[in-house]
Amino acid sequence: MNSPIPLHPRHRFPPDFVWGVATSSFQIEGAAGADGKGESIWDRFCRQPGAIADGSNGDIACDHYHRWEADLDLIAKLGVDAYRFSVSWPRVQPLGQGAFNAPGLDFYERIVDGLLARGIRPYLTLNHWDLPQALQDAGGWAARDTVHRFVDYAQHVAARLGDRIAAITTHNEPWVVAVLGHEAGIFAPGIRHRGTAMQVAHHLLLSHGLALQALRAQGCRSRLGIVLNLSPIGPATDSPEDAAAARLEDGRSVRWYMDPLFKGEYPADVWQHLGGDVPQVEPGDLEAIRTTMDFLGINYYTRGVVSASGAWDVHASGKPLTDMGWEIVPEGLTELLQRMHRDWTLPPLYVMENGAAFRDTLEGGRVHDRERSDYIAAHIGAVGDALAAGVPMAGYMVWSLMDNFEWSSGYAKRFGIVHVDYETLARTPKDSYLWYRDFLQVQHAKRAAAAALATAR
Ligand code: FCB
Repeated sequence: MNSPIPLHPRHRFPPDFVWGVATSSFQIEGAAGADGKGESIWDRFCRQPGAIADGSNGDIACDHYHRWEADLDLIAKLGVDAYRFSVSWPRVQPLGQGAFNAPGLDFYERIVDGLLARGIRPYLTLNHWDLPQALQDAGGWAARDTVHRFVDYAQHVAARLGDRIAAITTHNEPWVVAVLGHEAGIFAPGIRHRGTAMQVAHHLLLSHGLALQALRAQGCRSRLGIVLNLSPIGPATDSPEDAAAARLEDGRSVRWYMDPLFKGEYPADVWQHLGGDVPQVEPGDLEAIRTTMDFLGINYYTRGVVSASGAWDVHASGKPLTDMGWEIVPEGLTELLQRMHRDWTLPPLYVMENGAAFRDTLEGGRVHDRERSDYIAAHIGAVGDALAAGVPMAGYMVWSLMDNFEWSSGYAKRFGIVHVDYETLARTPKDSYLWYRDFLQVQHAKRAAAAALATAR
């Protein structure tokens, strides 16, 4: 038998630290054509033969669109402070411009009000990748006009829901949309062209900045920010070639986003490296991109190791791997957070996603996913280490509430703390859900004790 994972981490988390759990629209909702929803680029991409490992799609997914109420109950019983979800743009505005779809907006209003009724703060993401296909047909994120379509969409959603949303994230992981979607072509829309990818990244950042300005101008009181996928990137060996390759990869995946957002400039070394593939930047763009944020979100899963020859073997380090083949490196999260705090002047930081896929099995109504609980506990400890080192950490969210459509990997990779049986769509909380719930109970008790002490003084 494994010994129990301690519920009392070494660290003290501030009483206002936000504990949460996350999902995204395309990965859980299903109801792909229901109630006037438009087609998204992921609906289309899933139809490309070979695009998704198991040939699946998001038509049904976890059927959250119909089962949302029971899902919100699961979130409430977990005891989190916050739930991070995303709005499907084509569900609320089927063509990405023009008419809005009332049933789509009503759905998100039910989610928001359902969360508030259960005492949970809504954290809303506007773009977790499911762009309306009609906008893709008009050039997608490579077209500058999409920037303005996004700002309109953001304004409309915020006008309807902004009075009840704790935090609005413009984009989830712009690097993934740009590079995996438009350079590697392994995510929607499946384009392989580096110059396009860099233009897409620029337009995502620009639309983020302009959306922040527009939402503030209309009086939106939600906290506003963006969520980046970041890792500490290091060289595979001591060779100068590997060091240079790692520096470039850090430039392309970390500094390319952090520098414009927080310094108003693109990193010169990457700009030079890109040659003819640099984006078109118009006067005023960089000023808009660096619009002050209320928070920055980070998604962290693993570190990056770079070799100039491109031949680094993930098994080389001997570190344990998840079912995605990603090394488990909790200390990499502390390293990353400390580096960010050192290199940029930051608003409060959230880990907006952290979690792991493992090969879970349902046995007698239980899933004994000890590895996942260990993973989460270790990464919470890593956040605590960063806090102790002075990094302004404001929250931590587990990816994901439930098993769901893991993009190009289909349904085979399970990240949930709740198991989903894709035949029956039954939900079963895994042991990691029970662990996180118990951990949160201890946190809440500590908060209550601290509050009682403060009033007694
Ligand atoms: C992140 C995505 C999220 C999920 C996790 C595993 O890159 O934001 O939707 O797929 O990876």
